[in-house]
Amino acid sequence: MVFVKSFLVISTLLSVVLAKSLMRNHPGSSLFIVGGSNGNIADFPWQLSLQMRGSGQHICGGSILSSNWAITAAHCLEFFTPEMIRVLAGSTSVRNIGGKFYEIDKFILHPEYNKDLFSNNDVAVFRIQGEFDGVNMKPIEMAEEEPEADSTVTISGWGNLAWQGSMPEILQYVHVPVVDRSVCNHSYNGGINENMFCAGKAGHDACQGDSGGAVVQNGKLAGLVSFGYQCALEDFPGVNTNIVAPSIRNFVLNAMKD
Ligand SMILES: *[C@@H]1O[C@H](CO)[C@@H](O)[C@H](O)[C@H]1NC(C)=O
Repeated sequence: MVFVKSFLVISTLLSVVLAKSLMRNHPGSSLFIVGGSNGNIADFPWQLSLQMRGSGQHICGGSILSSNWAITAAHCLEFFTPEMIRVLAGSTSVRNIGGKFYEIDKFILHPEYNKDLFSNNDVAVFRIQGEFDGVNMKPIEMAEEEPEADSTVTISGWGNLAWQGSMPEILQYVHVPVVDRSVCNHSYNGGINENMFCAGKAGHDACQGDSGGAVVQNGKLAGLVSFGYQCALEDFPGVNTNIVAPSIRNFVLNAMKD
């Protein structure tokens, strides 16, 4: 497991834009959500695409929480200023068909983000200028119960590999099982804590560029795509920020009062 540990150390130190950006493509995986299907924004109206303002490059997913607040992973924003990013809402296509771009007013990263090894407390909230006011733009409620092991969650996103320059244009989604935390903790060499939960199975997972996007159960936001070792490997499920954990939930509720 040494290589796993050193990979994760490196990944934590270098989590430049996406925690998953160091993961390589491998046989059987695709460049976006692995094993998923085309989605429609009408079925995922909270889904956002965070994009570089200059290039239009999709960098991460996010979710609408209220008329002007949204949530993503801290690792998606840590090296940027609000001016560098804009947010696409209400579009099935990552190139914007029928949606709208919003500017970011400010963002707030969890103060305890990444203080430990692994991406602990990988959550950030941001406020847009104006309000989400288009069709197919709706907030998602935060879950109050953590998904149980073996229950199913749904992950959506336009995940891609920026450095390979390829992305799906159409929003993808996949249903994946939640993996028992202690099993996942073992896979990740003891790095999984209560602020995280794992989901995925061989051939079905979130992947590069899905980071920050919603992990949903019963129509509520249970998690945020955070990190993983490669994608869709049987022994390495994706790791998600656990919205229900007090450290995450309290941060979000307090930050949105600002
Ligand atoms: C994960 O494993 C480490 C090392 O064995 C242990 O200290 C920690 O308590 C475990 N965490 C969880 C949530 O099981």
